[in-house]
Amino acid sequence: MHVLKAIKERRSIRSFKDKDIPQEYIKKIMEAAIWAPSAGNLQSRKFIIVKDSKLKYELTKAAYMQEFVMEAPIVIVACADLIKSASRYGERGRELYCLMDTAASIQNMLLEIHELGLGACWIGAFDEEYVKKLLKLPDSLRPIALIPVGYPDESPTPPPRVSIDDAFTII
Ligand SMILES: Cc1cc2nc3c(=O)[nH]c(=O)nc-3n(C[C@H](O)[C@H](O)[C@H](O)COP(=O)(O)O)c2cc1C
Repeated sequence: MHVLKAIKERRSIRSFKDKDIPQEYIKKIMEAAIWAPSAGNLQSRKFIIVKDSKLKYELTKAAYMQEFVMEAPIVIVACADLIKSASRYGERGRELYCLMDTAASIQNMLLEIHELGLGACWIGAFDEEYVKKLLKLPDSLRPIALIPVGYPDESPTPPPRVSIDDAFTII
Protein backbone atom coordinates (compact mmCIF):
# COMPACT_ATOMS: atom_id res chain seq x y z
CA MET A 1 0.00 0.00 0.00
CA HIS A 2 1.18 3.50 -0.80
CA VAL A 3 -1.59 5.51 0.80
CA LEU A 4 0.50 8.50 1.88
CA LYS A 5 2.00 8.74 -1.62
CA ALA A 6 -1.49 8.84 -3.16
CA ILE A 7 -2.66 11.38 -0.58
CA LYS A 8 0.26 13.67 -1.36
CA GLU A 9 0.13 13.24 -5.14
CA ARG A 10 -3.60 13.87 -5.54
CA ARG A 11 -4.36 17.34 -6.91
CA SER A 12 -7.50 19.29 -7.63
CA ILE A 13 -7.96 19.09 -11.39
CA ARG A 14 -9.78 21.89 -13.19
CA SER A 15 -9.17 21.00 -16.82
CA PHE A 16 -10.35 17.78 -18.46
CA LYS A 17 -9.80 15.93 -21.73
CA ASP A 18 -12.78 15.25 -23.95
CA LYS A 19 -12.74 11.52 -23.16
CA ASP A 20 -15.29 9.26 -21.47
CA ILE A 21 -14.62 7.32 -18.29
CA PRO A 22 -15.00 3.52 -18.57
CA GLN A 23 -17.95 2.09 -16.61
CA GLU A 24 -15.67 -0.17 -14.52
CA TYR A 25 -13.80 2.92 -13.31
CA ILE A 26 -17.06 4.57 -12.29
CA LYS A 27 -17.93 1.40 -10.36
CA LYS A 28 -14.61 1.56 -8.47
CA ILE A 29 -15.24 5.20 -7.58
CA MET A 30 -18.68 4.25 -6.24
CA GLU A 31 -17.15 1.40 -4.22
CA ALA A 32 -14.63 3.79 -2.69
CA ALA A 33 -17.52 6.04 -1.63
CA ILE A 34 -19.60 3.38 0.09
CA TRP A 35 -16.63 1.95 2.04
CA ALA A 36 -15.90 5.22 3.85
CA PRO A 37 -16.54 5.31 7.60
CA SER A 38 -19.76 6.86 8.89
CA ALA A 39 -21.39 7.68 12.22
CA GLY A 40 -22.99 4.53 13.61
CA ASN A 41 -22.40 3.01 10.16
CA LEU A 42 -25.63 4.72 9.08
CA GLN A 43 -23.97 5.85 5.83
CA SER A 44 -26.06 9.00 5.76
CA ARG A 45 -25.16 10.02 2.22
CA LYS A 46 -26.39 9.70 -1.34
CA PHE A 47 -24.74 10.41 -4.67
CA ILE A 48 -26.04 11.37 -8.06
CA ILE A 49 -23.86 10.91 -11.11
CA VAL A 50 -24.69 13.45 -13.79
CA LYS A 51 -23.71 12.63 -17.38
CA ASP A 52 -26.34 14.66 -19.24
CA SER A 53 -24.78 17.72 -20.93
CA LYS A 54 -27.70 20.03 -20.25
CA LEU A 55 -27.73 19.13 -16.57
CA LYS A 56 -23.94 19.57 -16.41
CA TYR A 57 -24.36 23.05 -17.85
CA GLU A 58 -26.98 23.81 -15.20
CA LEU A 59 -24.60 22.54 -12.49
CA THR A 60 -21.94 24.87 -13.91
CA LYS A 61 -24.39 27.74 -13.53
CA ALA A 62 -25.13 26.61 -9.97
CA ALA A 63 -21.37 26.70 -9.33
CA TYR A 64 -21.15 30.35 -10.44
CA MET A 65 -19.81 29.43 -13.88
CA GLN A 66 -16.78 27.42 -12.81
CA GLU A 67 -16.61 26.25 -16.41
CA PHE A 68 -14.55 23.11 -15.90
CA VAL A 69 -17.64 21.54 -14.27
CA MET A 70 -19.33 21.08 -17.65
CA GLU A 71 -16.08 19.99 -19.33
CA ALA A 72 -15.94 16.83 -17.22
CA PRO A 73 -17.59 13.66 -18.59
CA ILE A 74 -19.29 13.09 -15.22
CA VAL A 75 -20.17 15.24 -12.24
CA ILE A 76 -20.85 13.54 -8.92
CA VAL A 77 -23.28 15.39 -6.67
CA ALA A 78 -22.58 14.33 -3.09
CA CYS A 79 -25.52 14.75 -0.70
CA ALA A 80 -25.83 14.41 3.05
CA ASP A 81 -28.90 12.47 4.22
CA LEU A 82 -30.07 14.74 7.04
CA ILE A 83 -33.07 12.69 8.10
CA LYS A 84 -31.27 9.35 8.24
CA SER A 85 -28.65 10.79 10.57
CA ALA A 86 -31.12 12.87 12.61
CA SER A 87 -33.33 9.83 13.15
CA ARG A 88 -30.66 8.34 15.41
CA TYR A 89 -28.55 11.31 16.47
CA GLY A 90 -30.95 14.27 16.49
CA GLU A 91 -29.45 17.70 15.90
CA ARG A 92 -25.87 16.44 16.01
CA GLY A 93 -26.74 13.94 13.26
CA ARG A 94 -28.43 16.57 11.08
CA GLU A 95 -25.85 19.35 11.61
CA LEU A 96 -22.64 17.38 11.77
CA TYR A 97 -22.49 13.59 11.34
CA CYS A 98 -24.18 13.37 7.94
CA LEU A 99 -21.85 16.08 6.61
CA MET A 100 -18.83 14.17 7.88
CA ASP A 101 -20.18 10.86 6.53
CA THR A 102 -20.44 12.48 3.11
CA ALA A 103 -17.07 14.24 3.32
CA ALA A 104 -15.36 10.94 4.20
CA SER A 105 -16.86 9.38 1.06
CA ILE A 106 -15.75 12.35 -1.02
CA GLN A 107 -12.12 12.02 0.07
CA ASN A 108 -12.22 8.24 -0.56
CA MET A 109 -13.51 8.92 -4.07
CA LEU A 110 -10.86 11.57 -4.75
CA LEU A 111 -8.13 9.10 -3.82
CA GLU A 112 -9.58 6.30 -5.94
CA ILE A 113 -10.04 8.73 -8.83
CA HIS A 114 -6.36 9.60 -8.53
CA GLU A 115 -5.35 5.94 -8.43
CA LEU A 116 -7.29 5.33 -11.66
CA GLY A 117 -5.32 8.06 -13.44
CA LEU A 118 -8.33 10.36 -13.45
CA GLY A 119 -8.69 13.79 -11.88
CA ALA A 120 -11.39 15.65 -9.99
CA CYS A 121 -12.11 18.74 -7.98
CA TRP A 122 -14.13 19.06 -4.76
CA ILE A 123 -16.45 22.02 -5.38
CA GLY A 124 -18.13 23.61 -2.41
CA ALA A 125 -18.97 27.00 -3.93
CA PHE A 126 -22.39 26.47 -5.46
CA ASP A 127 -26.01 27.42 -4.93
CA GLU A 128 -27.53 24.54 -2.97
CA GLU A 129 -31.13 25.54 -3.62
CA TYR A 130 -30.50 25.69 -7.37
CA VAL A 131 -29.05 22.17 -7.32
CA LYS A 132 -31.88 20.82 -5.16
CA LYS A 133 -34.47 22.16 -7.61
CA LEU A 134 -32.54 21.05 -10.67
CA LEU A 135 -32.15 17.46 -9.47
CA LYS A 136 -35.53 17.38 -7.69
CA LEU A 137 -33.89 16.37 -4.42
CA PRO A 138 -36.12 15.70 -1.42
CA ASP A 139 -35.73 18.01 1.59
CA SER A 140 -33.92 15.22 3.42
CA LEU A 141 -30.93 15.50 1.06
CA ARG A 142 -28.50 18.41 1.28
CA PRO A 143 -26.07 18.65 -1.65
CA ILE A 144 -22.69 19.46 -0.15
CA ALA A 145 -20.25 19.00 -3.03
CA LEU A 146 -20.08 18.83 -6.80
CA ILE A 147 -17.24 16.67 -8.08
CA PRO A 148 -16.42 16.90 -11.77
CA VAL A 149 -14.37 13.84 -12.78
CA GLY A 150 -12.43 13.14 -15.97
CA TYR A 151 -9.04 12.59 -17.54
CA PRO A 152 -6.75 15.42 -16.39
CA ASP A 153 -5.63 17.97 -18.96
CA GLU A 154 -3.24 19.69 -16.55
CA SER A 155 -0.79 18.71 -13.86
CA PRO A 156 -0.80 21.44 -11.23
CA THR A 157 2.06 22.14 -8.85
CA PRO A 158 1.16 21.13 -5.31
CA PRO A 159 -0.18 24.10 -3.33
CA PRO A 160 1.72 24.58 -0.04
CA ARG A 161 0.54 23.07 3.23
CA VAL A 162 1.01 24.38 6.73
CA SER A 163 3.80 22.64 8.61
CA ILE A 164 3.05 19.66 10.82
CA ASP A 165 4.06 21.80 13.79
CA ASP A 166 1.49 24.44 12.86
CA ALA A 167 -1.27 21.90 12.42
CA PHE A 168 -0.62 19.70 15.44
CA THR A 169 -0.12 20.15 19.15
CA ILE A 170 1.15 17.15 21.05
CA ILE A 171 0.39 17.26 24.76
C1 LIG B 1 -14.83 22.08 1.13
C2 LIG B 1 -14.05 22.40 -0.13
C3 LIG B 1 -14.59 23.29 -1.05
C4 LIG B 1 -13.89 23.57 -2.22
N1 LIG B 1 -14.49 24.35 -3.18
C5 LIG B 1 -13.85 24.58 -4.34
C6 LIG B 1 -14.50 25.32 -5.37
O1 LIG B 1 -15.65 25.73 -5.27
N2 LIG B 1 -13.82 25.52 -6.52
C7 LIG B 1 -12.55 25.05 -6.72
O2 LIG B 1 -12.00 25.28 -7.80
N3 LIG B 1 -11.91 24.33 -5.77
C8 LIG B 1 -12.53 24.08 -4.59
N4 LIG B 1 -11.92 23.31 -3.63
C9 LIG B 1 -10.59 22.72 -3.89
C10 LIG B 1 -9.50 23.46 -3.11
O3 LIG B 1 -9.28 24.73 -3.69
C11 LIG B 1 -8.20 22.61 -3.12
O4 LIG B 1 -8.45 21.38 -2.50
C12 LIG B 1 -7.04 23.32 -2.39
O5 LIG B 1 -6.69 24.50 -3.04
C13 LIG B 1 -5.82 22.42 -2.28
O6 LIG B 1 -5.39 21.98 -3.55
P1 LIG B 1 -5.25 20.42 -3.85
O7 LIG B 1 -6.63 19.82 -3.76
O8 LIG B 1 -4.68 20.32 -5.23
O9 LIG B 1 -4.33 19.82 -2.83
C14 LIG B 1 -12.60 23.00 -2.45
C15 LIG B 1 -12.09 22.09 -1.53
C16 LIG B 1 -12.80 21.79 -0.38
C17 LIG B 1 -12.25 20.73 0.58
